[in-house]
Amino acid sequence: MLGAALAASAVRRPPRPGVAPLPADFRWGVALAGVQSEGHCPDSNWRRYSEQHAPTVSDEIGDTADWFCHVEEDVARAKDLGIGTFRYSVEWARTQPAPGELDPEGFAFYDKVIDTIEATGLKPMITLDHWVYPGWLADRGGWLCDDVVELWLQHARRVVERYAGRDVTWITINEPGIYVGFERRNRKLGRMEVGTMKRRLVEAHRGAYALVKSLDPGALVTSNIAYLPAPLNLIDDRWFFDQTIDTMDFLGIDYYYGLSVGNPTVVNDLVGRLWRIRTQPDGLLHALRIYHRKAPHLPIWIVENGICTDNGKPRSDGLTRSDHLLDHLYYLQRAADEGIPVMGYNYWSLTDNYEWGSYRPRFGLYRVDVLTDSAKTRHETDGVATYRAAIARNGVPEGYRPVRREAWGSPAAPWSTTLGRLTHQ
Ligand code: BGC
Repeated sequence: MLGAALAASAVRRPPRPGVAPLPADFRWGVALAGVQSEGHCPDSNWRRYSEQHAPTVSDEIGDTADWFCHVEEDVARAKDLGIGTFRYSVEWARTQPAPGELDPEGFAFYDKVIDTIEATGLKPMITLDHWVYPGWLADRGGWLCDDVVELWLQHARRVVERYAGRDVTWITINEPGIYVGFERRNRKLGRMEVGTMKRRLVEAHRGAYALVKSLDPGALVTSNIAYLPAPLNLIDDRWFFDQTIDTMDFLGIDYYYGLSVGNPTVVNDLVGRLWRIRTQPDGLLHALRIYHRKAPHLPIWIVENGICTDNGKPRSDGLTRSDHLLDHLYYLQRAADEGIPVMGYNYWSLTDNYEWGSYRPRFGLYRVDVLTDSAKTRHETDGVATYRAAIARNGVPEGYRPVRREAWGSPAAPWSTTLGRLTHQ
């Protein structure tokens, strides 16, 4: 009986809906971050973690993808994709090598970055803190230093003052929750210390928001959250997101992984085997619904999304960078069709880079064999042509159907991903 009923519902099930192109003013971008990409690293918490082989580290940073010496050509590559926004970070460690001492050369590098971005017709998205602070602050305890918020805000002020009026979109602190996680493991922070760091990150974000509002009025500000598969996100949101939502001009969400009964592979994250995680594109739609419900008044920008390979090899599940990208855009467009105000999407990352302790996970649209190629040659992946074409048409090709099956039994949407899927796929 049940078999017959299921068979009948399978026959009757409506086709998955097609999706409309994203709005004409949708913002397309790429993202990278200082210590992960620049090379020629000044003394910082991360340079030390790398050199001292801290708990999360297997490879030393070295000169990574050498963005420091490839600015013009990488910005040209980004432009050639058709994007409008280039996200990068301005490293405190490079601009202030010692307490009370600023490095004009460090600022000159970031001046060159923003000048190049502007000259190419792109707009900058600047992250003030992508998990890196100067070595001298590490000596004083990093986020446990009593003056850290004041010192951090001085860094923020210098950067905002310098680049105000240049059409910057500001990200204060990248993924606060993951930042705390790395600091906890690499500095062996205790429970109380973790609490202190969390409180200070909230304070720093709020201070930076006020700074931008006074120094660069009209510019958009947020702090991007890493989407932790539901229901973990609800717990994690309590200490940062829920405390800062009144100081966000848009929601910046980094979506990488989902979690469901049918796909628990996200546990590979705990041991750094990111390439073994089976990505869950429909989870992006669930994430967007959840955050739209939380903050219906705010538009949403996916400020990071991407997939990693094991050292650039084809993935064992057969999914290509191109499939992954289109599958996610499909669900982004579904969200837009539902009326969720999605305003932008950044691909993480333009090139392979230092994945916080290892070069093995490769996220780049361009492959760079950092450990074996001293010239740091950029090799185009299949994601490049796909992203270019998607941007040109503002979405997936007409009639596109995702390659990856929808999740089964996701806590983010229990009804539609269990019983509902029998009738809605
Ligand atoms: C971070 C990036 C990281 C990426 C891929 C995000 O959590 O912001 O720095 O490289 O995910 O793991």
